[in-house]
Amino acid sequence: MQIIDGKAVADEIKKEIGAEVEAIIAAGGKIPHLVAILVGNNGASETYVANKVKSCEELGFKSTLLRFDPTISEEELLDEVRKINQNDDMDGLIVQLPLPDHINPDKVMETIDPRKDVDGFHPINIGRMAKGLPAYISATPQGVLDLLERYNIETAGKHCVVVGRSQIVGLPMTILMQRNTKIGNCTVTITHSRTKNLAEVCASADILIAALGRPEFITADYVKEGAVIIDVGLTRVEDSSKKSGFALKGDVKFDEVAPKCSFITPVPKGVGPMTIVSLMKNTLLSAKKVIY
Ligand code: GUN
Repeated sequence: MQIIDGKAVADEIKKEIGAEVEAIIAAGGKIPHLVAILVGNNGASETYVANKVKSCEELGFKSTLLRFDPTISEEELLDEVRKINQNDDMDGLIVQLPLPDHINPDKVMETIDPRKDVDGFHPINIGRMAKGLPAYISATPQGVLDLLERYNIETAGKHCVVVGRSQIVGLPMTILMQRNTKIGNCTVTITHSRTKNLAEVCASADILIAALGRPEFITADYVKEGAVIIDVGLTRVEDSSKKSGFALKGDVKFDEVAPKCSFITPVPKGVGPMTIVSLMKNTLLSAKKVIY
């Protein structure tokens, strides 16, 4: 059994991006600029956005964090997005989710210029990805692909089961894993809360991607001997023994599952660090105008 070290892979990719940015700066090229919009003060979102801004600083990117009161109206927020769309210095825009209930996230995503949609959430990017056209691919699924690639994990012909059908992870993951690409060519099953015999379906997976957001839901009986386990879950659970008052838990019961599998991502330091790196990669692609 091998533990997939997402932190080490992320650090390696960060070095590659940092070196490229240095070369761009030396040549007088466009410094990548990421803009993050944060509405309200959801604790997890605060942490995620702070980490994104910190990564920008580490890699020599420009970043702008725009914070808005949770009472901002939908139209006001859409206007802010439109302003950023018009600003040629700004290469990438992310609007951190979740948004307050009175704001329709789909409307916001559809207002972002697809050329700046480095989260890959715009229907145009999702559609282009599905067709195999150049597109921004959402950060977490891209991070999973990079981990599989860097660990030389064979995917062709394998049965990949994805647990969870979220727009951000589950759904794009299934599209990507069936594509005719180096990491892909899987026979894919997508499962969700209405799936019958979930444990049985999961136990038939060669590659199991857990993205349902329920801490330690995937136990040993969901896992085939020798399977590859990718744990995308990242849920905050109260833990008074921690200084922060919470611990981060994955969707997989690691201690029980790890002895059964060939590869497994831990939580933390598995998929998590890859998500930010993928976002940085997309922002760099935007500054270089590679996709569009
Ligand atoms: N909320 C949870 N994950 C994400 C993400 O990848 N991007 C954005 N914008 N919001 C999120």
